[in-house]
Formats: sequence, C-alpha cells, structure tokens
Amino acid sequence: MTKPKILVTRKIADSAEEQLLKNFDVSLNKNDSPFSYDELVKKCNEYDGVVAASWDKFDKNFFDSMNGKLQIISSIAVGYDNINTEAAKNKKIVITNAPNVLNDAVAETTLLLMLGAARRAYEGLTLVKSNKWKDAKVDFTNFMVGQPLTGKTLGIIGMGRIGQIVAERVKGFGMKVIYYNRKKLSSDLERGAKYYENVNSMMPHCDFISVHCPATPETKNILNAEAIKLLPKHAIVINTSRGITVDDDALIDALEKKTIYAAGLDVFTNEPKLDERYLKLDNCFTLPHIGSATHETRAAMSMLAVKNIEAHFLKKNYPSRVV
Ligand code: GLV
Repeated sequence: MTKPKILVTRKIADSAEEQLLKNFDVSLNKNDSPFSYDELVKKCNEYDGVVAASWDKFDKNFFDSMNGKLQIISSIAVGYDNINTEAAKNKKIVITNAPNVLNDAVAETTLLLMLGAARRAYEGLTLVKSNKWKDAKVDFTNFMVGQPLTGKTLGIIGMGRIGQIVAERVKGFGMKVIYYNRKKLSSDLERGAKYYENVNSMMPHCDFISVHCPATPETKNILNAEAIKLLPKHAIVINTSRGITVDDDALIDALEKKTIYAAGLDVFTNEPKLDERYLKLDNCFTLPHIGSATHETRAAMSMLAVKNIEAHFLKKNYPSRVV
C-alpha cells in the first residue's frame, strides 16, 4: 500500500518529524521557509494530509480550491481562527488542533505579563539597558514603584482549561479570582471563584482582568470601550488569547489617558503589524505572541499534531478533532 503523503508547512519539533516519517511519505520544511498563500493552495492539492501552523491561512477560497485529495489539516496550535471550519466541513476535510499540552505554558506567560505590567518591568528594563539608571533620580516612594499582585482580585474572561489553570496559579500570590464564562462552571471546577453572568458587571471588581477565550465572532472586542470604562483606575488588562478580543482603540485610549493603570499583551490584532500606538506606551508591557513558547510545550504540540494525523490515516480516535 502506498503511504499517505503528508505536507508539514513549517519546521516542527525533530521528535515529531521523526515520528511522522515512520508511517508517511513526508515533505518537511526543515528550513522553515513560509509558503505564500498561493503556494499553500497549490501544494495542499498534492497531499493527503497537512500539518499546519497558525500563520497558515485556510479561508473559504482555500477550501473552494481543494480538488478532493486533501483529507485533513492538523494544526499545531490550539486556536483555529486561521481556519474556516464551516468551509472545511463542507469539503469534508477534517480539522484537528493542539489543545491542553500548552495550558501551563500559557498560564505562566499570563503571570509574566501580570508581573511585568504591575511592576513596570518594561520601564525598568529600558532604564537599565539604556544605561540611564545612573542618571535617574531614585526616590523611595516613586522610583519604579508599581502595584502588587498579592491580595488583589483577578477577573478571568473565559474560564476554560487555560483560565482554570491561571486561576489556580494566582492563588499562590494570594489573589482572589472572579470570572465570566458563557456558562457557570460546576463548583468543583470553580474552586471558589465567583461567577458573573456578564462581562460588564464584573469589570468594577477587577484589579486585573485577563482574557482566555478563543477568538470567535462572539468574542470579538469582548473587552470593548464600555467594559474598559467600567474598570477601576488601577486596573491592569492582560491578553494571551487573540488580539481581536480587545478593542484596540478603547484600550489604547485608556492607557494614554491613564484611566487604567497598565496592560500586559502577548497578542495583537494584525500581529506582527500591531497598532503602532502600542509602541509608545510605557504602561504597556508587550511580548511577541510567545504564550506557548517553551521547548517542552512546542515539542508536545508538534507531537499532538502528528498523533492527529496518525489517528486519521491509521483509523484511531483523534486526540483533538475540531470538525
Ligand atoms: C497559540 O496562540 C495557539 O493557538 O496555539
């Protein structure tokens, strides 16, 4: 029997590439050179399965252009807002993602952003690295003085798997957790966190607010101008989900006018071409979408994507099928 042909669009972990080579006729991208959209469309028509990254765009036109050969797109990301799942379903192309194995890494990045934004790490780092510390006036009550996490309240929007881990981790800082989710969780999952039925009613009670929901039409700008206006002046906005969950104009306005204290952002609308107003804000601690970026996690995500490919062609249960 001829082996199914698998295209891997970007460099994935060596261990996952080796595993894939055991059962399939594989085209790897060892040099990690991205395909243009047109190349991706053309190539995908020559393969039975694709291991893809969140940077690859699979829109309606992509699926309309498929000639019937491609059976599965296995994404190495948890978020699949880059894939038109309805169009995939219509073409009977299976979509899988890579959830869960990145939960701890993203929770750690959330803590990094919370600490970085609250303790003014960007300003501190810039002062030291620019060698201007020696010229700075260091006074006890103002110099790089920020806010604590200890004893504060964190509001979580989207209490899924990552949100729940963040909730557990911040308890180590003595924080209280409140949350908004489409549905109230059972009390064993809630673990003492207080539920709010809508985002706006939760806002005034948040010292920190962190977004952990997927990007969908319903969650676009879930932190909108109205919600941001309801935050206390000392509030800190954290985002490790997707840029589109936060209204950029509203957040930037609040940071510029200091109607909130700070933001810590790992994700941006149109990243990496983010709104340049963010670059000028000292009270915005930014990272380049590295939520899941540990060697261990990226290897596990790569392997999970391979396991989904194996499940499809070796007729096993998919570890994580989307459609
Ligand atoms: C990262 O953002 C992912 O969706 O895996």
